[in-house]
Amino acid sequence: HELHKGVKHLCERGITKVPRKYILPALDRPILTKKDDATNFKLPVIDFDQLQGPNRIHALESLSKACEEYGFFQLINHGIECQSILEMIEAGRKFFDLSFEERSKYMSNDLRAPVRYGTSFNQNKDRVFCWRDFLKLDCHPLSDVLPYWPSSPTELRQAAVNYSEKTRFLYLMIVEAILESLGLVETTKDSDDHIKEFRDGSQLLVVNCYPSCPEPDLTLGIPPHSDYGFLTLLLQDEVKGLQIQHEGRWVTVEPVPNSFVINVGDHLEIFSNGRYKSVLHRVLVNRLKSRISIASLHSLPFESMIRPSPKLINDANPRRYKDTDFASFIEYIASHEHRSKNFLESRR
Ligand code: SIN
Ligand code: FE2
Repeated sequence: HELHKGVKHLCERGITKVPRKYILPALDRPILTKKDDATNFKLPVIDFDQLQGPNRIHALESLSKACEEYGFFQLINHGIECQSILEMIEAGRKFFDLSFEERSKYMSNDLRAPVRYGTSFNQNKDRVFCWRDFLKLDCHPLSDVLPYWPSSPTELRQAAVNYSEKTRFLYLMIVEAILESLGLVETTKDSDDHIKEFRDGSQLLVVNCYPSCPEPDLTLGIPPHSDYGFLTLLLQDEVKGLQIQHEGRWVTVEPVPNSFVINVGDHLEIFSNGRYKSVLHRVLVNRLKSRISIASLHSLPFESMIRPSPKLINDANPRRYKDTDFASFIEYIASHEHRSKNFLESRR
C-alpha cells in the first residue's frame, strides 16, 4: 500500500523514474512538444466588471458564446482580494508540506466524508495512478463541516472559510448571469425564484498538489474528465498544466494572474439542454516545478434532480437528457476508474 500514500510521499523519498503503477499505456500519454506553446491558444476572457455595468448585455453574449464553444472561460476583475487568494494557496501548500503522518490522518475512502486527503483520481478503481495528491474540503453548510477540517496548518481553516465564502458569493453572481444568458430571467422575480435552489447548493474545495515529476511524458496529473457539477471555479498558480479539449485537440490554458478559470460542468450541460458544454480536460505534470491548483466545485443541493430547464425544451430543441438524481452521479464516480463523459452520454 506504499502507492496509496501518494506522489508527494513518493517524491520525498527521492525517485528518478516514474514507478510502473503511474505509467500510462502509450496511446494515453501526453505528447509534450514545444510546438503546443506556439499555437498560442487563448481562452475567452469575461470581465466581471463589465458583467455588472452598463455593458452587461454585451458581456452576457460573450459569456454564452464561451460556454457554447469552449465550455471554459477566464474571469478577470472578479473582485476577490489577492490577499484571500494568496492565503488560501499558501495554506494549501503548507498542508502538503506537513509530514505524511500528519496528512494521512485525513485519508478516507468515504466519498461523502467532509474532509478527504488522497491520491490519484479514484484510488480504489484506477488501474494506472495519476500524479496528483489532493485535499478535499466539503464547504456546505460550513458550520456542520468546519469541525472536521484539518486543524493544521493553523491558518488553513480560516483561509478556507474565507475563500469558500467569497467563491460561493462569486459563483452565485455568475449563476445569475448564466441564467440570464440562457434567456431564463426576464424579471427580478424570475431571478429570485431560480436562484433559490442554487443558494443552497453544495460546494467542494479541492486543493490539488502535483509534485514535479522525473518523466512527465509517461503520466498525467489528472486524466481526461469532465466535472460533474454545475460550475467549477479554478485557481491555478503560475505553473501551467491544465489542458482542455478544443476542436479535437489538447490545448494548454495559460495561467493569467488574478483570474479564475471557470468551466461548465455536467449538471449545467444537462440544465441547459446541451447548449452549454461540459468539456473534457486533463492536467500535465512538469519535470522542474511542482504545481498547486484550487478548484471550487459548485453543484445543486444533494437532494436535487438534475434536469433540462423546461423553458429550454421546445419543438426546435427537444429534450436531450433524462432526469438524473445527484446521487447517481456520485455513485457512478465511486464505482468507475475515471470518467470521461460516459455517464453524461448515458443520460441522453
Ligand atoms: C481539475 O480538473 O479538477 C483540476 C485542474 C487543474 O489542476 O488545473
Ligand atoms: Fe476538473
